Amino acid sequence: MEKLTGLKKIKTAVFISGKGSNLKNIIRFSKIKKSPISINVIISNTNKARGLNFANQSKISKKIFDYKNVNFAENQILKFLKKKKIKFICLAGFMKILSKGFIKKFDGKIINIHPSLLPKYKGLDTHNRAIKNKEKFAGCTVHYVTAKLDSGKIILQKKIKITSKDNPKTLAKKVLKQEHKLYPAAIKKIFY
Ligand code: GAR
Repeated sequence: MEKLTGLKKIKTAVFISGKGSNLKNIIRFSKIKKSPISINVIISNTNKARGLNFANQSKISKKIFDYKNVNFAENQILKFLKKKKIKFICLAGFMKILSKGFIKKFDGKIINIHPSLLPKYKGLDTHNRAIKNKEKFAGCTVHYVTAKLDSGKIILQKKIKITSKDNPKTLAKKVLKQEHKLYPAAIKKIFY
């Protein structure tokens, strides 16, 4: 990604499927003067995503795409992003896998946050699997999105300890707290 030279913030879309705590945090970050990005669009595959409320609150344009037909959905999303002049995409709890063709259109310009210390525990149910495997550490990773699931170049990672008291729920909460710090830090790292 080119470094930021002008004063203009990079027009960014955030993709969500769930409660949107990362989205909320990225919106907050985007409003500070030092943020390299502005959030102009919020996209979801479901109208049940609670995070869509943050779009209403912050008056950011949001759009829901029906994923019954993935190809069609992705084409519609691409059209919408083009119309809105979006140059960068942050996935924040987006539970659909983007196709190779889609990623190619935003090559090197899509990042994701994942709740594990990648390359460990790609995919779902990360905390449960980490505890079952008696891991000593958990964490989160911000990485570039490539056609291979959860495998693109790592931008930043944060490690935390798993204690004997942890269960998947407590661990998810602890990791999420770190995610909220890690995502803005990763965005800064990319552009500055
Ligand atoms: C976060 O923990 C994020 O890392 C995870 O979903 C959660 C979304 O929370 N993402 C993935 O599992 C992607 N494979 P949020 O909606 O509160 O930001």
